[in-house]
Amino acid sequence: MVHPNGSPNGTNGVTKDRSKLIPFSSRLKEGRALAQDVWSIFNAANLPADCINLGQGYMNFAPPEWIKDAANDALNTVAASHYSHPKGRPRLRQALKKYYDPKFGRDLDIEQEILVTSGANEGQYSVFVAFLEEGDEVIMFEPFFDQYLPSVTFNGGKPVYVPLHPDVSHGKITSNDWVIDFDELRRAISPRTKMIIVNTPHNPVGKVFTRAELEGIAALAEEFNLLVMSDEVYESLTFDDKEHVRIANLPGMWDRTVTVGSAGKMFNATGYRVGWLIGPASIIQPTLAATTRIVFCSNSPLQEAAAAGLEQVVDRKFFEQQRKEYNERRQILIDCFDDIGLKYTRPEGSYFILLDISEVTWPENYPFPESVKGRGRDFLACWYIALEFGVSSIPVSEFYCEEHVNIGERFARFAFCKDVATLKQAAERLRELKRIVNKTSA
Ligand SMILES: Cc1ncc(COP(=O)(O)O)c(C=O)c1O
Repeated sequence: MVHPNGSPNGTNGVTKDRSKLIPFSSRLKEGRALAQDVWSIFNAANLPADCINLGQGYMNFAPPEWIKDAANDALNTVAASHYSHPKGRPRLRQALKKYYDPKFGRDLDIEQEILVTSGANEGQYSVFVAFLEEGDEVIMFEPFFDQYLPSVTFNGGKPVYVPLHPDVSHGKITSNDWVIDFDELRRAISPRTKMIIVNTPHNPVGKVFTRAELEGIAALAEEFNLLVMSDEVYESLTFDDKEHVRIANLPGMWDRTVTVGSAGKMFNATGYRVGWLIGPASIIQPTLAATTRIVFCSNSPLQEAAAAGLEQVVDRKFFEQQRKEYNERRQILIDCFDDIGLKYTRPEGSYFILLDISEVTWPENYPFPESVKGRGRDFLACWYIALEFGVSSIPVSEFYCEEHVNIGERFARFAFCKDVATLKQAAERLRELKRIVNKTSA
C-alpha cells in the first residue's frame, strides 16, 4: 500500500523532490493564512529605500525612559529572568487592578478576573481556543483587524462580516460617520453565532463607538447569548474629548464580555509583547487554561516594565501628554489632506487616518507588480503613491471579505504613530498628490 504522504523515494531508487515531504495542516489554508498579505506586499524590502513608512502601525520612537529603566532593572533580577505564573506576574496583575478598578467600577480579582497575555493578539487567540467549537460563528465589523480572521478559523470558527458604512455624501467625515446598520447586524446572527468582536477605538477607522451603539450591540448579545470580545487596545488614544465607553460596563454585560488591552499600544512598546484580558472568572479561567498550553507564560522582564508603566501613568499624567502628542501628529496629516483637497475620515481615536483615494489617478500603463494587480483599486493607488511620492500606506480593502471589497477600496490607511519630523516630511511629499487628483472622477 502506498503511504498517504507518498514515498520519498521512487521505486527505481531515484530521489524524488524532497522539498515538501510532509504535508502541512489544512487549517493553514483557511483565514488567508497562506495568502500573500498586505504586509508582505507593502514591505520595506519591496519599496524604495527612502520611502517613508506610514503603512505599518508601529512607532518609530522608543517607549518612555522610565519604562525602559524598569525593563533594564528587571533584566538584572533573578526572579524576572525566569518563568512567571501563567496568570501573569503578581506585580503586573496588581498594577492592572489599580489602574482598571476605577475604570470598570469593580474590585477586580487578580486571581480570577485578570490574565496577562503575550500581547493582545495571543490573548484573543486564547479566547478563541477556549470558546469556539467547530462551525461556531464569530461576527466582526469591517474593516477588521486582520489577525482576527486566521485566529478564528484556526480554531474552527467561521467569520461573519458586518460592514461599518461610511457616509461619504459630505466632505468632512469623521470616524463617527462610519455607522452600524443594526438590521444588518441582527440578520448576521444565526443559531451558530457564538461571539461578536467589538474594537473601540477602532483600527483602521479611528471610530470610538458611542454609548448608544454599544447599547445596541449589548442588547443583541443579551438576546442571543453572545460572548463579546471588546478589543480596546487603543483605549488611551481618543481625541476631540471623545469618551471611551466600555461595553463591559453596560448593564448585565460584565458577565459576557472579555476586554482586551495592550502594553504595546499604551506605552509605545509593541515589541514587548505584553497584553491582558479582563473579564469574569467564567471567561478568564478557561482562557487561562488555553494560554497556559500555548505560551505557558508571557515574558517576565517586560511584564515588570509594563507593571512599572501602569503604576506610574496616573501620577505622571502620561496619557494626557500622549494624547496631546498624537493630536499634533494627527493634525499634520489632516492639514496635509486639507491642502491637497482630498477627503479623509477624521479619526476620533487610535492612530490611523483613512484617506479617500477615489480621486487619485495614475497613468494607464503604469508598471504595477503582479502582487497588486487584480486586487482592489486601493492596492494600485497605495503602490503608486509609495513608488512615486515616497510614502507608504495600507490599502483598506485588505480588511474586508471579498464580497465587501468595494467599500474598502476607496481608502488608504496612513498611520501617524511616527515622530513629528517624519510626519512633516511625509506630508511634504504627499502634498505633491495635488498633481494627480482628478476632481471630476469622484
Ligand atoms: C485592533 C488591534 N487589536 C489588537 C492588536 C494587537 O496588539 P498586540 O500588539 O498587543 O498584540 C492590534 C495591533 O495592531 C490592533 O490594531
